[in-house]
Amino acid sequence: MNTGHAKLIIGNWKMNPSGGKDAVALYKEIKKGMPKGFPGKAVICPPALYLPLLSKEGATKKLSLGVQDIFSESEGAHTGKLSAKMLSDAGAEYAIIGHSEVRALGESDETIAKKITLAFKAGLIPVLCVGESVRDDAHEYFAYVGRQLEGALGGIPKVLVKKVVIAYEPVWAIGKLAVRQASPEESLEMALFIRKFLADMAGQKAIEGLQVLYGGSVDHKNARTFLEDGGADGLLVGRASLNAKTFIKILEQSF
Ligand code: PGA
Repeated sequence: MNTGHAKLIIGNWKMNPSGGKDAVALYKEIKKGMPKGFPGKAVICPPALYLPLLSKEGATKKLSLGVQDIFSESEGAHTGKLSAKMLSDAGAEYAIIGHSEVRALGESDETIAKKITLAFKAGLIPVLCVGESVRDDAHEYFAYVGRQLEGALGGIPKVLVKKVVIAYEPVWAIGKLAVRQASPEESLEMALFIRKFLADMAGQKAIEGLQVLYGGSVDHKNARTFLEDGGADGLLVGRASLNAKTFIKILEQSF
């Protein structure tokens, strides 16, 4: 099932590359290689420090910038933290929130909910990551993801729900330590579950136009199957976004 509309492909560079020069070179290469006729939107989320550098290179309608996290307060005595507004001013359009690597450091659903509200206030589009750590035979993982959705979105106005991009990222399929790749069927059933859960929570109208992405070991070889058979409106790409050629190939697989 191809969901039929333009795809959102987000590259999460995590704590890479190790210098600003390399970051600019990588961004430039991606910008130059954007496939002709690409109908979707690509978003690069570099380490926040590089945002001003990459913003100088220019964002376009088809390629823009995001951040990997924001802080859960808007200002004040918070050593080492960056607010949603600062990051928006520095050129970010999107903000990944609740990534499993941040949750692993102790981030709670309550904090995630605060970050979502602050992202909206600063004009950032939140990309909420959800996903289970293990796939149990009793299918408890559906309830687990449901609790993450409820915890993050249960308190926001219903009209905002569809404006949150949801990224389903099964933790067991992410990064170098991935147990295995997820199948498009697994992506599809969770995408359907997420839509149903949010429709039950906020009403059918609240999810019209909602984008549900898939993330976890996405590369140029499996991108198309997640988009066509996995019910994904887009992809959240980690490692494969650090190689311009591979990332461009993923964009090419999206239409
Ligand atoms: P990966 O990471 O593509 O390297 O598995 C995905 C993510 O953590 O967003």
